[in-house]
Amino acid sequence: MGKQPKTAEHSANIPHWYSPTSELPTITHGDGSYVYDDAGNEYLDFLSQLYCVNAGHSNETITERMAEQLGRIQYVASSKHNDVRSELADRIADVAPENLTDVFFAVSGSEANETAIQLAREYTGKSKILTRWQSYHGATYAAGALSGDPETRATIERHAATTGHGKFLPPLSENGAFEADSEKELARKAAAHLEFVLTNEDPDEVAAVLMEPIGGTSGAYPGPADYFQRVREICDRYDVLLIADEVITGFGRCGEWFGIQTESVRPDLITFAKGCTSAYAPLAGVITAPEIASHFRTEGIDVGQTFGGHPIACAAGLGAMDAYEDGLIENVRQHASYLEDALYGLADRHDVIAEVRGRGYHWAVVFADPETGDPFVHPWIDKHGDNPVSAVRDEANDRGVLFGSGRPDTQIILSPPFTAEPKEIDIAVDVLDSAVDAVFDEY
Ligand SMILES: Cc1ncc(COP(=O)(O)O)c(C=O)c1O
Repeated sequence: MGKQPKTAEHSANIPHWYSPTSELPTITHGDGSYVYDDAGNEYLDFLSQLYCVNAGHSNETITERMAEQLGRIQYVASSKHNDVRSELADRIADVAPENLTDVFFAVSGSEANETAIQLAREYTGKSKILTRWQSYHGATYAAGALSGDPETRATIERHAATTGHGKFLPPLSENGAFEADSEKELARKAAAHLEFVLTNEDPDEVAAVLMEPIGGTSGAYPGPADYFQRVREICDRYDVLLIADEVITGFGRCGEWFGIQTESVRPDLITFAKGCTSAYAPLAGVITAPEIASHFRTEGIDVGQTFGGHPIACAAGLGAMDAYEDGLIENVRQHASYLEDALYGLADRHDVIAEVRGRGYHWAVVFADPETGDPFVHPWIDKHGDNPVSAVRDEANDRGVLFGSGRPDTQIILSPPFTAEPKEIDIAVDVLDSAVDAVFDEY
């Protein structure tokens, strides 16, 4: 039988995170904070696609740099030096926390995390890695096993044994994690719990603690005041490395180059991806402390990836860093409180919104039944329930604004491009407002 002619919707492409019930637009072009589909519909992209097009769409500083690189050399082996690759590594090291000096490139966020744990294991000679429940660190085998989110982890672990990972609770006072009346109490309890897990896993076996400075898809929660200082102290006490997964929070998303910089804590390794090139080309990597880098510079590294540090992607990275330095991160700093106030206003108008949390241009709006305080439907428990939160997102989508789903999907995530100004924030929050009304009036 011959192959059928295909429309985009029925093409050979299988979308990632695919759900047979979702209707997907075919996005064909973008400009600034907006994208357009093949039917001519305009969408305000309040998710930067997947938390990654930080500089907005069609940024010429980036595209021109990529085009210029295409005319010079298109690929250089990742086992060799290349001028743009070296320049980007130096620029990333310049904006990273003071104690981090060297960069090892990868391709995706999952691979950056896998690389970071390879380096941590080789360097410490220990093998366990501790990560938080309800976290997301990627979908390849080791990165999926690091993830606390059961949808991802179960999909990986159903078919393959993954070893060397332990989990601890995130610093949250919901879903039965910790009861606390203040941030300080939450930080103290969450850190004491981490120490309990670490000592029970045997510190002599634990190479690293890996966590996102601000929850990414897991719900935009910053650590409570003091939390990261306590975590750093615990890692130092037991000779365990601290790895910050900055795949979402890196490159300005939360108002600083890296999310951990707001905490005044120095991690031993940072992983990055997404915003590094504003997603104009795939690029990721690990930034390391000098003692770890010098260990590998002396001993050598037996592994690598063909496309790690691809020159076209590195050129995109240089263009993106120019654009961020040229006012885009400043735009986040300037308008973050406008976004925050607008979201708190939204929460005041709807008693189904239980919490608003985030930092910079990365926020979560958390929904719960006002009578019980529990999620309307918890999709990790009731897998086939009719979830009003996803209905709100679909409704907003139909009204022309794209938002993200959280892990768990009891929250809506906002992660706009840094090009978004108060005008776009007003549009996004008004649409969310009317989408909440439309869904919960019926509920
Ligand atoms: C915090 C975090 N780490 C790692 C990843 C995995 O990145 P990638 O999808 O590029 O493999 C993601 C992706 O969303 C992420 O949010």
